Amino acid sequence: MIFTVAIDGPAAAGKGTISRAVAARFGFRHLDTGLLYRAVGAKGGDPIAAAQNLTAADLSRDDLRSMEAGQAASKVAAISEVRAALIAFQRGFARGEGGAVLDGRDIGTVICPEAEVKLYVTASAEVRAHRRWLEVGGVEAQVLVEVKERDDRDMNRADAPLKPAADAVIIDTSHMSIDDAIDAACAEILAHRA
Ligand code: DC
Repeated sequence: MIFTVAIDGPAAAGKGTISRAVAARFGFRHLDTGLLYRAVGAKGGDPIAAAQNLTAADLSRDDLRSMEAGQAASKVAAISEVRAALIAFQRGFARGEGGAVLDGRDIGTVICPEAEVKLYVTASAEVRAHRRWLEVGGVEAQVLVEVKERDDRDMNRADAPLKPAADAVIIDTSHMSIDDAIDAACAEILAHRA
């Protein structure tokens, strides 16, 4: 069986939590594609060479989840050659045997336009910044500035900008509990499974 669930959306909208829950519920493999860009950004040096030679060790660094790593990822993700180097791996993962959930920014639009289910998980910048601030602490207003900065870069880059695919189902989690958001995602998948 080949079955791909594409989950796109901005930072801290709940994509990761929803993706992990959906993968566990249906027994699908899961790829957090943001981690690939975070690993490239964290490696330093030439980002194109880093993307072309990414190793398992690069992906298991324990500093990839920080706000700084997110900003660095967003910067290297605007480089077309970096994106190109990561496409084949993501496509192979998406269309390999067994179901797959991929979360990122361009899964439904570029990596896997043929995905059986496409979800666009979003929330207001204020709600997302508040959630991120609860995790990382610091000054909430500064977290909001960084969230907006990253949105702006991810949505306005020339190559594979963040936007919902024309046939994506939008899940706005601004006023939703995480359980309700997971249920909404699972309902979409059930509706598309043969
Ligand atoms: O999902 P995340 O916060 O871990 O992603 C970090 C950055 O990586 C994000 O700001 C933009 C980039 N990214 C991307 O361009 N395409 C993807 N499919 C996933 C992430």
